Amino acid sequence: MSQTLDETTQGALYQELLDNDSRVVPVVLRKQSPMGDGSMTVPVSRYTDPAFHKAEVEKVWKKVWQMACREEDIPEVGDHIPYEIAGIQVLVVRSAPDTIKAFRNICLHRGRTLKEYPGRAEEFRCPFHGIAWNLDGSLKHVPCKWDFPQVPDEWPLPSVNVGTWNGFVFINLDPNCAPLADHIGELDEHFATWDLANRYKAVHVGKILRCNWKLAQEAFMESYHVVATHPQLLAGMGDTITQYDCFGNFARGLTPNGVTSTHVRWEPTEQEMIDALTDRTLDIDELIHVPEGQKSRTVLAEHRRAALAETIGVDEANKVTDAELCDSIVYTLFPNFHPWGSYNRIVYRFRPYGNHHNLSIMECMILNPFKGKRPKAAPLKMLGVDDDWTDAFELGLLTRVFNQDVYNLPKVQEGLESGAIDEVVFARYQETKIRCIQNELMRWIGAE
Ligand code: FES
Ligand SMILES: [Fe+2]
Repeated sequence: MSQTLDETTQGALYQELLDNDSRVVPVVLRKQSPMGDGSMTVPVSRYTDPAFHKAEVEKVWKKVWQMACREEDIPEVGDHIPYEIAGIQVLVVRSAPDTIKAFRNICLHRGRTLKEYPGRAEEFRCPFHGIAWNLDGSLKHVPCKWDFPQVPDEWPLPSVNVGTWNGFVFINLDPNCAPLADHIGELDEHFATWDLANRYKAVHVGKILRCNWKLAQEAFMESYHVVATHPQLLAGMGDTITQYDCFGNFARGLTPNGVTSTHVRWEPTEQEMIDALTDRTLDIDELIHVPEGQKSRTVLAEHRRAALAETIGVDEANKVTDAELCDSIVYTLFPNFHPWGSYNRIVYRFRPYGNHHNLSIMECMILNPFKGKRPKAAPLKMLGVDDDWTDAFELGLLTRVFNQDVYNLPKVQEGLESGAIDEVVFARYQETKIRCIQNELMRWIGAE
């Protein structure tokens, strides 16, 4: 990569890499949808003002489609899982073999939460006085019914809209919402070749962070921070070569791996490039060996293609491009859903923790392809605010990268809360995804 980087090369270097792929690249990676010129500053209050948080709850969280769980989290009739958004409790349940329903997770008698944990049940019986509802939300039993003349025979749990996409269950609290398909829109085409429905959730880890939920997700929406936050990756990662696109309510970044960042002032060997990506420490042998005369990107792609062949078969794996095997293809659907494209397997979700503007939950799922019977989905493992990501060893080398990311976040929140600045500024290209999703946020906040 000798070309000078400036505003004219946005996306061009990534497309050049695709030209040299060993396979024919899918059309979706050839799309380019830059936001165009535009500088953006946004008020600090979007991250610090409880009133802005309240507006988000009313105008966004109570109105928008949001990913609640995977279908495989509730495989059998009676399986249920609580989902909480900004203090609002929802219960998602498989009420029949092919039906998933959702209800407000609250007893209609005096308001106790009905179910606090995932599980399997034949009914939803309130632990306080024992009023019970059927799995379809209809009233089943009221102890001493004679004592409640005001309670009708039909007394269903308030329902919440449900939709599914690619194995994910989405909910919407707005009874008048548009269909989920309208919200997903063109994203469906993007994921048509990457069948996330036929993956199983091998890992699911969450952690509470001391920052606004948008600060947390925005730290995962650009590669601009890699030079300072994850410098160990740069020998093998094309952070500055990333192509960013905005498609309205979703955006993406395409970051190549197995190439060297234009920040790097020395010439790493092909082996050093792959060592950087695989987090090889100095006292161990190379994790992936690059034979003399070969390129790290090709070797990485072949290594992953061979691994993939074990589940999807040699013929299918042979069609997968180097880009799909090596690169970080990171989508964001408004407001908080971040599925990675291709076989990179990661899905993030960010949301407020409780009803707090300055605490959030970050979650990472790993969706693996499988052969034969679908393996059991991993339950959520929650890390507390002071726990270290390395406690979630199942995330592998991601843990050390996440530690680097989340180390910054409370310090950003503190800085913004200090009142020293009124605005934050976003890079016009490399922070395209943030600009795109912030624009969408304000479209919702402004909506009546
Ligand atoms: S609060 Fe649920 S039965 Fe009384
Ligand atoms: Fe990062």
